[in-house]
Amino acid sequence: MRWTFAMAAFLAMLPSVEAQPIRYLADKQLWVLESGESSYVVGVNELNRLQHVYWGKKLARNEDFAPARSARDFAFESREGMTTEEYPGWGGMRFYEPCLKVTREDGVRDLALKHVSHEIRGETLEIRLRDINDDIRVTLVYRVWPRTGIISRHAVIHNGTKQQVVVESAQSAVWYVPAGDGYRLSHLAGHWAGETQLVREEIQPGRKVIESRRGNTSHQANPWFAIDERGAADEEHGRVWFGALAWSGNWKFVVERTPYSQVRVTGGYNDFDFAYPLKPGESFSTPVFYGGFTAAGFGDASRRMHRFIRDEILPDRAAPRPRPVLYNSWEATTFDVNEAGQKALADKAAKIGVELFVMDDGWFGQRNDDHAGLGDWYVNPKKFPNGLKPLIDHVNKLGMKFGLWVEPEMVNPNSDLYRAHPDWAIHFPGRPRTEGRNQLILNMARDDVKEYIYGLLDKLLAENNIEFIKWDMNRHFTEPGWPNVPPTEQKKIWVKYVNNVYEIFDRLRGKFPRVEIESCSGGGGRVDLGILPRVHQVWTSDNTEAFDRLRIQEGFSFAYAPKVMMAWVTDVPNMNGRSTSLKYRFLAAMQGSLGIGANLNHWKEDDYKLATEMIALYKRIRGTVQHGDLYRLLSPSESDVTANQYVSEDGKQSVVFAFRHSQQYLRPAPTLYLRGLDEKALYRIQPIDDKLIGDQRTVSGSYLMNRGLNLRLGGDFDATAVVVERAE
Ligand code: GLA
Repeated sequence: MRWTFAMAAFLAMLPSVEAQPIRYLADKQLWVLESGESSYVVGVNELNRLQHVYWGKKLARNEDFAPARSARDFAFESREGMTTEEYPGWGGMRFYEPCLKVTREDGVRDLALKHVSHEIRGETLEIRLRDINDDIRVTLVYRVWPRTGIISRHAVIHNGTKQQVVVESAQSAVWYVPAGDGYRLSHLAGHWAGETQLVREEIQPGRKVIESRRGNTSHQANPWFAIDERGAADEEHGRVWFGALAWSGNWKFVVERTPYSQVRVTGGYNDFDFAYPLKPGESFSTPVFYGGFTAAGFGDASRRMHRFIRDEILPDRAAPRPRPVLYNSWEATTFDVNEAGQKALADKAAKIGVELFVMDDGWFGQRNDDHAGLGDWYVNPKKFPNGLKPLIDHVNKLGMKFGLWVEPEMVNPNSDLYRAHPDWAIHFPGRPRTEGRNQLILNMARDDVKEYIYGLLDKLLAENNIEFIKWDMNRHFTEPGWPNVPPTEQKKIWVKYVNNVYEIFDRLRGKFPRVEIESCSGGGGRVDLGILPRVHQVWTSDNTEAFDRLRIQEGFSFAYAPKVMMAWVTDVPNMNGRSTSLKYRFLAAMQGSLGIGANLNHWKEDDYKLATEMIALYKRIRGTVQHGDLYRLLSPSESDVTANQYVSEDGKQSVVFAFRHSQQYLRPAPTLYLRGLDEKALYRIQPIDDKLIGDQRTVSGSYLMNRGLNLRLGGDFDATAVVVERAE
């Protein structure tokens, strides 16, 4: 009796088959991956090839799925080529973007991958493939992230043959949406000082390539995409498939629409100038490609990414901490930093409520402008005769943490380091060394260079109470030579460089857990899911002009969490000559992680008063902005009002930011319908000024979401915010 009871209790504790996030349906040779509200299904077809079956909203019954079957062939297309193959090698009759392309030592380039075996371990699935003849193996690694509905995929490629195999294209995944016409692609394009602009276009027959060939992620394109049907999705409704690649080097997405109405997105390492030789027994891995699906529009797609980044990616994911309010002296002083000047700025920053004081470029070597000094990471004795300690102590006594700017991957030809080691710069022998911002790139793919850079950062952090570093990278690759390895190995530079940089971040974070890091590359040139596990925030753009920022920040928010989006309040006129009020600038910057980058020496009493109030307000709402849900109410590219609403995780607080750009005379601002509130709950409305029309101050969630709010936003560049708090 006792035994039976124990057995029954034990069985009751086991999760039901349906509840397991990854299931193998042996009779149909299908794997069902469930993540949040979505399902991803892959199977083995009658040709023993791995085939994509379904990606979309979770389906209720296993019985609904049929086994994978390849498509029909005819003279000009093979069955394989017509089928939604899950990870096609380049070989046989396949004319679309392959996931893997290799050349063997004997010149044979054909690769046909068949299914071998699989293993499920909780939320991870490995499916193993092998070439039909040779021991070239691929392990596809899948993971589900049920809390946010994300699925991740990458591939590990192994050369088990007796000859060298050169990998010429290694993609992380190909994603398929259901066959059909008229899909729309959303992606993020831009340039320096104009990053992450949202671009939308119909997916036409043929290929659309978005990529970086620049050695890092790039300002020009960002590795994120989303697809919806004929523009059928909006912020709140509709099916959206989206993905983001975790790689900070050369990457490529190929978005194809085949003549047979199949849309496919292949992404991974850029195969431009790519060749990765694998000796017998060697393996290598592609970056991780994250993907997600929602049936609830772009807003939900973004919120899933934001939650995923906060809960699963960021270094503080286990115990999220709010980002501090920082001050950065760059726009105030540029290279003209010294102990007295920085102390004076620190005094002023502390008074308005800043928590982290960051000294930017100019503190080291002979760095008086951007022509010299990079590489010489010793404190400039003229500017800081007693080292950094007096300044850091001063900052700490004011109750702030101290942070420092570095650009470790770079060297100016006019530096002691370059004079000692000209061969450390990336170059082709006997060829010009093209400079960008008067600098060259150290070859971080070299382990000796990597160790040297690690050593000096280690020393800097060990000797000083530095609690934050802004890690910059101010140019892209040219003449990507690596002369001290054999020519056949040289193209590995694209991958090895990034992995060695990642390694430095990882080792520093392991050794100095107190130190937080900002990823910067002349603004937002290194923002991706590969760097984000290693840094706490990113510098969104060198363009700090508040209205330009609204569009940059909007695009950013499609892929990345507001918490990591560093935004400064700076002086006007800025960049394009536009002037907005200090309040407008604060409200624009308060939609991410707030920083101040203005020259505080020029501020008047009123500016200090307003700044103190706005920073106090920010501290009251930052939990909601940084850890809450974002609803984009009105877009700067579609309306003359931009409005964004954030709702805290516990639903108790919400904040709405609204900005007017170019008002048609007398035309009122559109009604703002809030979202994400509890219809039945009561909320207290707390406007930050007199721009809320009407006197109601306690209303239901239903009122806020259906009747909405009206704001008196007049003229150009007016702005306000409204805080809403649950009344119970
Ligand atoms: C880059 C950064 C700026 C600043 C300068 C310093 O442009 O994006 O914020 O740090 O370098 O030279």
